Amino acid sequence: MAINRAIVATVLLSCLAASCYAITFSSLQRTLDLDASVKAGEVLKAGEGKITVSWKVNTTYPAGTESSYKTVKVQLCYAPVSQKDRGWRKTVDLLKKDKTCQHTIVERPYSASDNSVTYTVKRDVPTATYFIRAYVYNAAGEQVGYGQTTNAEKSANLFSVEAVTGRHVSLDIASVCFSAFSVVSLFGFFFMEKRKAKASN
Ligand SMILES: *[C@@H]1O[C@H](CO)[C@@H](O)[C@H](O)[C@H]1NC(C)=O
Repeated sequence: MAINRAIVATVLLSCLAASCYAITFSSLQRTLDLDASVKAGEVLKAGEGKITVSWKVNTTYPAGTESSYKTVKVQLCYAPVSQKDRGWRKTVDLLKKDKTCQHTIVERPYSASDNSVTYTVKRDVPTATYFIRAYVYNAAGEQVGYGQTTNAEKSANLFSVEAVTGRHVSLDIASVCFSAFSVVSLFGFFFMEKRKAKASN
């Protein structure tokens, strides 16, 4: 009996703990206005392309809306066209399971004045179509608002990143081929020498 009660209590407690983090995207308000220098349809090269992003609380929200904002995190997020057939980029309303936004542009304490950043697209950002989203977090680390550069359907203001990895992959393939060739020819010469030695004995 006591054990049963302990189990029930444990289950209840863990549900409570889980619900603390059960924040959904649809429950958040779009309180931030996000402004980015990248134009719709622009193609940025990974490792070179630069984006300047700035954010501020939309003035239609009452003053003090940002009083609970402790941190802001701005990210590159996959547009629907680059999520198709890719489960690892899937949009899930439950934010801890959402995989839409995977590349961080900046994460810093929220401040109404220190609200802009210039970011160079990292080399490990894959070729895809993106938009930019920012989340604001409270002191407990929970998302309490967001802003994004696109409309709700994610059909406007999308841009692309072109990765540089293609060049690296072909270089890697070439170097693997050359080392395989040198190993093979080394053995080839070795056996030829052995044969010659045998024949002359
Ligand atoms: C501020 O929010 C309102 C209501 O959601 C919206 O219509 C408006 O476009 C927003 N302002 C900016 C600059 O995005």
